[in-house]
Amino acid sequence: MKGVILAGGLGTRLRPLTKITNKHLLPIYDRPMIYYPIQAMINAGIEDILIVCGGNHAGEFLRLLGNGKEFGLKHLNYTYQEGEGGIAEALGLAEYFIAGQKVAVMLGDNIVEKNFRRAKEEFEAQPKGAKILLKEVENPRPYGVAEVSGGKVLGIEEKPEHPKSNLAVIGIYFYDSQVFDIIKTLKPSGRGELEITDVNNAYIERGEMTYTVLDGWWGDAGESFESLIEVSNLVYQTGANKVE
Ligand code: DAU
Repeated sequence: MKGVILAGGLGTRLRPLTKITNKHLLPIYDRPMIYYPIQAMINAGIEDILIVCGGNHAGEFLRLLGNGKEFGLKHLNYTYQEGEGGIAEALGLAEYFIAGQKVAVMLGDNIVEKNFRRAKEEFEAQPKGAKILLKEVENPRPYGVAEVSGGKVLGIEEKPEHPKSNLAVIGIYFYDSQVFDIIKTLKPSGRGELEITDVNNAYIERGEMTYTVLDGWWGDAGESFESLIEVSNLVYQTGANKVE
């Protein structure tokens, strides 16, 4: 399966840190943020990776990562998103790369402690549709929040004021090739973005969405200054996505 890491957007929530560099190049303990999703993909068995970058410092990705030699990769693919039209818009740029296959998508600011290979293999065995990963959190308000019942996802709300559960939708998603047709039907949300939650709800409406609860801790390092330091501390204390 091919992988797409979304590292576009302008990172405005983390200004002034993101004034002179890209959010995904900020340090998380001893490595730049983007190293973690790359290593997580590789550990899950995904080595054909496209990085969607954006913003004013996109050239720095190439300078830092080159062809992925440091990760044992022969090649890394890049594309560029203009502006910040949303996670779903960024994923839409990967259509040529995925070329009708299944895809694993990871947000460039999400960091997970443990290998998600099992979820990837479950999705490989799934005839069609999509799969999301959920994690129980204390405060789900800043995230997509899933309502589940009887082993099924009933719906997802993006950053709800009154969450229906404590299950955050984390930034690792699996899709079949229908995803690109779904993205083309989306309308911008209140925050002016094409939302990945709308993509996921489209799969839920089709009855083609499955979920797995993530093992180990998860952090959205780019959510706030607090999450940036909290995730750094977690990596320092327990390690994450080590070379396997
Ligand atoms: O972290 C998990 C959460 O990520 C989910 O629970 C939410 O459902 C999902 O919408 C998303 O919420 P955020 O508000 O945290 O997304 P954010 O704008 O921080 O973007 C996350 C990553 O996606 C970011 O590191 C880079 C990439 N991105 C984002 C935008 C807006 C792009 O590549 N292009 C974009 O235009």
